[in-house]
Order: sequence, then structure tokens, then C-alpha cells
Amino acid sequence: TSVAAVIPAAGRGVRLGPGAPKALRALNGTPMLIHAVRALAASRRVSLVIVVAPPDGAAEVKSLLDAHALPERTDFLVVPGGESRQESVRLGLEALPPQYGIVLVHDAARPLVPVDTVDAVIEAVRDGAPAVVPALPLADTVKEVAPAAEAGAPEPVVATPERSRLRAVQTPQGFDRATLVRAHESVTDNVTDDASMVEQLGLPVVAVPGHEEAFKVTRPLDLVLAEAVLARRRL
Ligand code: C5P
Repeated sequence: TSVAAVIPAAGRGVRLGPGAPKALRALNGTPMLIHAVRALAASRRVSLVIVVAPPDGAAEVKSLLDAHALPERTDFLVVPGGESRQESVRLGLEALPPQYGIVLVHDAARPLVPVDTVDAVIEAVRDGAPAVVPALPLADTVKEVAPAAEAGAPEPVVATPERSRLRAVQTPQGFDRATLVRAHESVTDNVTDDASMVEQLGLPVVAVPGHEEAFKVTRPLDLVLAEAVLARRRL
């Protein structure tokens, strides 16, 4: 069965500071989205990439893709996105032609994911998992807090989940297409990743090793880190 990737890239990226939509900001002179598209198209198994553009930016994204060298063996589609990441992914899925049985969902904000991670996710779906996430152990201890008594006051800590059992989850997340479509049809809560919607259906989700270079570019320091990773790759 063929593999397609949906790249939600419709976010504004407010945490990154003022400027263009996050996916269109440059890393070493090339828009983050182009890095992300190349990272997915680097897998020989991915034959279609659907980019979900900012609602008013589909034409701009289309010409951006046309202006950059991308692999000939890969097809590209651009569709306008929505208000939430979840809605943007759903709009991407609606544009998916019938022959694709495996779907990857990958954040444009993770431009540097290595191809080995992409292939490991695809492999696990082909081996029969309905949903696969790349995941890494945490460096920090994580605590659950309750709301502060008043704005600006310290937050009470209520729990410390055992760190060795926690994972930080990345993208691309890989899915059996029918499972992901059903998840998007039936789960209406606002979620931060696609696999959690499959969990809500009661279906198994498995984790494979993620990669430190698949980090999400969210805050200004992440741009510095991403450019350092690119510089190291060129050595
Ligand atoms: O905001 P966050 O970092 O979780 O966004 C993850 C990905 O979802 C980004 O690639 C962003 O462009 C995308 N997104 C989207 N549509 C939205 C919000 C976020 O495609 N409405």
C-alpha cells in the first residue's frame, strides 16, 4: 500500500515571536516548511506530500513549493488549513486520494527529522500497528500542577509521574488510514496530537525511538538550535 504524508503548516507560531506564519520562517535562508517537506520526501516510501497551508496562504505555499527543488518521484498537494491543528489535519485527510493506505502526519515545525525516523514509523505501521509515534525519554522530571490561588502566585505541585515511564512524543506519527479517518470523525475534543485520538477510540498506539533532531521549533532559542544542527550536517 502507498504512503502519503500530511504536513499541517497552518499555525501562526505566536510563541516564536512576531513575524510570518511559523512554517514560512527561514532556517539558513530556506523556509522551515521546505525543510520539513524535504525531510518527508527523503523517504523513498513516501509518494505524496499534502501541505496544509494557512487558510489565506495556499497560493503562496504553492509557489514556494514550485520555487524549491523537490524530489521528482514525489507528488505534492496544497490545501488550505483551519482554526486548530486538528482541523488542519482533517482538511488534509479529505484531500487524500484513495490509493494511500498509510498516512503520516508531520508538523512543519519539526523541519529536521531524519529519514531513518520517518522510515521506522512507516515500518511499524506496515508491521500492523494502527498508530505509531516516535518518542524519546525525558531529560527533565515532569510535575503536574494545580492552578495558582491568584494570578502570579506560585502553583501548587500535585503529582510527579515516574519519569522512566514518560516519553516526549514527536512526529511524523504514522497511521493506518482508515483508523486515522475514523479518529478524526469521532473525536471532537481538542487534542495536541493525532495518536491521542486513536487512543480515545480504544485502539493500540505504539512508540518507536524518536530522534533528538526531530525537536519542535517553538520558541526563539529553537531557531538557534535548528541552524546549529544544519551547520553541523554540512561539515
Ligand atoms: O502549535 P503547534 O506547535 O502545536 O503546531 C504544530 C503544527 O500544527 C505546526 O506545524 C502548525 O503549523 C500546525 N497547525 C496547523 N493549523 C493550526 C494550528 C497549527 O496546521 N490551526
